[in-house]
Amino acid sequence: MKVIEKIDEMKRLRLKLAESVGFVPTMGYLHQGHLSLVRRARSENQSVIVSIFVNPTQFGPREDFSSYPRDTECDLALLKKERVDVVFIPSADEMYPPQFDSWVVVDKLARRLEGACRPGHFWGVTTVCTKLFNIAQPARAYFGQKDAQQLVVIKKMVSDLNMNLEIVTLPTVREPDGLAISSRNIYLNPGERQAATVLYRALALALQLYAQGETDAERLRQKMIALLQKEPLAEIDYVSIANLRTLDELAKVTSPALVSLAVKIGKTRLIDNIML
Ligand code: PAJ
Repeated sequence: MKVIEKIDEMKRLRLKLAESVGFVPTMGYLHQGHLSLVRRARSENQSVIVSIFVNPTQFGPREDFSSYPRDTECDLALLKKERVDVVFIPSADEMYPPQFDSWVVVDKLARRLEGACRPGHFWGVTTVCTKLFNIAQPARAYFGQKDAQQLVVIKKMVSDLNMNLEIVTLPTVREPDGLAISSRNIYLNPGERQAATVLYRALALALQLYAQGETDAERLRQKMIALLQKEPLAEIDYVSIANLRTLDELAKVTSPALVSLAVKIGKTRLIDNIML
């Protein structure tokens, strides 16, 4: 497994790899969710490139960029076990030299939901993904359903800008009690970890009520909010039931709908979603 820090070197190496490169962009501190993407990439491509880069431009000024968990040694050991060919792990200066001045912006889709709570977040995501796609030139890139809006935004960018790759989606990997696995779960103390199951319980409630015939989106939202409010450590950022393609809020649930939520548990902001 080659570990590469420089863009030039990564591009030179890319020329020597076969056409079919599978690419998994990550911010590191790898867990089973990331590894599910790596395994799929391994099974579908001749070569696999994984990037580890905590991307400063997708964090707001009051967000957790500097405290975001990092453990490169452990990440590299995990990736080696998965028979990854190349790990690209650039520095912030390598990706954003001082004169850096270009942005890739998806407009409306990126202003909804997470974009409304975290202004500029998706500018950072689409810009860094464009750079990474240009550097790694993959045939396929692998993303998790966990970050549902990120996926919608990336797919839109790839389609609108005629980028030459396929976006492959994998389901959210969860803990046995339903909590979506996330690098940020490490921030939770034991009481908060227990409280954090409320996100999945709210989503499961929506799924259950929908299965029983409830299609009024506002009623579903209110039931989810009532359940979340019973958890004293939870503070709701948003609960949304939206059209999966446009991310417009729905009055009546029509399939496929994206039920998503962002909730602070103590100081830790968690997101999760399911599809109806
Ligand atoms: P990161 O949060 O490290 O996630 C990397 C990839 O792993 C994303 O596609 C994310 O959706 C996926 N993922 C995370 N948790 C998952 C889970 N429990 N189950 C399945 N997949 C999961 O998302 C980012 O990094 C960044 O925004 C990035 C795309 C790398 C751009 O900086």
